[in-house]
Amino acid sequence: MKIIIKNGFVVNTESVVKCDLLVEDGIISAMGGGFEDEAATVIDASGKYVLPGPIDVHTHMDLQAGQFRAVDDFYKGSIAAACGGTTSIVDHIAFGPKGCTLQHQLDVYHGLADSNSVIDYGFHGVLQHVNEDILLEMENLMKNGIPSFKAYMTYDFKLSDDELLQVMKIVKKVGGVLTVHAENHEVINYLRRSFVEEGKTEAKYHASSRPPHTEAEAVSRLIHLSAMADYPNLYLVHISTEESLKEIIKAKENGAKNIFVETCIQYLLLTEDKYLLPEGEGLKYVMSPPLRKQKDCDALWKGIQKGIVQVVATDHCPFYFKDKIEHGLKNFTQCPNGGPGVEERVRVLFTEGVMKNRISIQHFVEIASYNPAKIMGIYPKKGNIQPGADADLILIDTEKTGVIRGNMLHGNAGYSLYEGYQYKGEIEMVMQRGKIIVSQGEFIGNRGDGEFLNRILPIL
Ligand code: URP
Ligand code: ZN
Repeated sequence: MKIIIKNGFVVNTESVVKCDLLVEDGIISAMGGGFEDEAATVIDASGKYVLPGPIDVHTHMDLQAGQFRAVDDFYKGSIAAACGGTTSIVDHIAFGPKGCTLQHQLDVYHGLADSNSVIDYGFHGVLQHVNEDILLEMENLMKNGIPSFKAYMTYDFKLSDDELLQVMKIVKKVGGVLTVHAENHEVINYLRRSFVEEGKTEAKYHASSRPPHTEAEAVSRLIHLSAMADYPNLYLVHISTEESLKEIIKAKENGAKNIFVETCIQYLLLTEDKYLLPEGEGLKYVMSPPLRKQKDCDALWKGIQKGIVQVVATDHCPFYFKDKIEHGLKNFTQCPNGGPGVEERVRVLFTEGVMKNRISIQHFVEIASYNPAKIMGIYPKKGNIQPGADADLILIDTEKTGVIRGNMLHGNAGYSLYEGYQYKGEIEMVMQRGKIIVSQGEFIGNRGDGEFLNRILPIL
């Protein structure tokens, strides 16, 4: 099957080139002009940008977290991703039963995703305890399709500093990536307990119980640990504060290496005043880390501009508003933790970044597609437009505008954290491995057509 995409502005990290693309059997086979083939399907991309398929490397589909389960499974969640212009996800999978192997949770997630995901998907392994068997298993998995692992410094299965150091040494030995949720668990627990004891249970205390120092201290500690393990690839998920960035910058100035920073769209755009919204509306924004101040958003944008923040993801982890109200209205500590975003990411980031002149369109490709692919071991198959790469492509028309409405999104949550947001730059088409899966906003792909991303060790 041949497809010719004509006259688009093809965007990579280093260039924007007006040219045609020839796609054969799902792969980009040539770039240039003069491709003629009567049997080929021709897509006219005149006046539009052709971008490598955006990749969200931080989602939580079907996440069981305590008594709550994120409400998007791999089918609905991946349709939402696709309709938002995302062609691959790498999912942070849930903890399993105490003491389980690493493979146990990977098997569970293959069961959830394999015949459901409509876009390509991978899994970060999840660490919940450490011993010799786990370290050995981790080593094998990193060499065989799961190069990245997630450790938490908070929640029930948090790793101790001792365990983090052991894990880092294995990551360094093999060349994988350790992704970490960095927050100071004990301080947060103390603050949560204190607020509840004082009757301070409204949504705004969610933010007060996780102040910026709880993230920055954990970030700093992690970087010191990573120095002791000779700087393995350390990927800091959902960084939300100026204070953390200062720690990262200071460490880098002092010679720290192999530190990669992710933020999420909510931390670039939304601020903690959302927690003051009436009628429990603020609970929609209960997520960890919490929303911060405008100065933090500004610092994160500066971090992107300077290349300190390399990836913008979502931490997509939606819950029904009714459940947030039922459990969280009287006590924020009982509120299901997380929010939707996978469908909004590309439009919001493109508008805030490119259309508001904060970053170039090439830089957009870098943080939404190329860097996620490189760091997470799916480059050069994904994350760029060049012969040999998968034909994962989106077309963007910068002349078109739209408004985000939660009730028009494709996930199950039924609301958006960006309700009423006016975006500029519409996603006209989404193609995965040569197949159009979204056309003019309509999903036309198939359940189970997504392929598992057997990832490689990153070449960084
Ligand atoms: O609030 C959030 N982010 N929930 C999902 C789990 C996590 O912390 O990443
Ligand atoms: Zn997360």
